[in-house]
Amino acid sequence: MAEAKPEILFPKEVIEGRVRELAAQISRDCAGKELLIVGVLNGAFIFMADLIRGLDVPCRVDFVRAASYGCGSVSAGEVRITKDLETPIAGREVLIVEDIVDTGITLSRLVEVLRQRRPASLRVCAFLDKPERRKVPFAADYVGFIIPDRFVVGYGLDYNEKFRFLPDVCVLEDIA
Ligand code: IMP
Ligand code: MG
Repeated sequence: MAEAKPEILFPKEVIEGRVRELAAQISRDCAGKELLIVGVLNGAFIFMADLIRGLDVPCRVDFVRAASYGCGSVSAGEVRITKDLETPIAGREVLIVEDIVDTGITLSRLVEVLRQRRPASLRVCAFLDKPERRKVPFAADYVGFIIPDRFVVGYGLDYNEKFRFLPDVCVLEDIA
């Protein structure tokens, strides 16, 4: 039998429109500056690719990968940077681009680590935000869409490395 089709939460046309708005807002806020866009692998790569093509300010790109450990019994999971930036960020205008803020653990730790390197500014743009799931306080400077506590895939977001390629954001039900 065929796999059940995921329910579409945001079709690609809606995503395109919102990403354009975010890019315009970031361009206004950062007018006259050069940005270093830091993508968080793997989930952010599709969002980041679309976002930077909507920017009106010059940018460079680099990537980090963070692995988060810890389970239900651990209140603040351990976050390890498994692939670091290759660009020094001291004095630069840095924008972290992430697929989703869930518990907030990954981004709050990443921001803490990168802040120690003394960037001129450090902002965060998250495509999605699930505020109901927060375990540590975290607010991104730019958010594409706020969503309820449901597991979503597509537009770069995966479930066990599946579904990243879907052009729409879909809800995966029936996940243990
Ligand atoms: P955190 O819990 O805020 O640290 O988020 C860690 C990571 O969990 C995110 O960067 C995503 O890769 C992943 N994640 C959280 N919620 C979802 C979801 O609904 N779909 C796919 N990945 C998710
Ligand atoms: Mg991720």
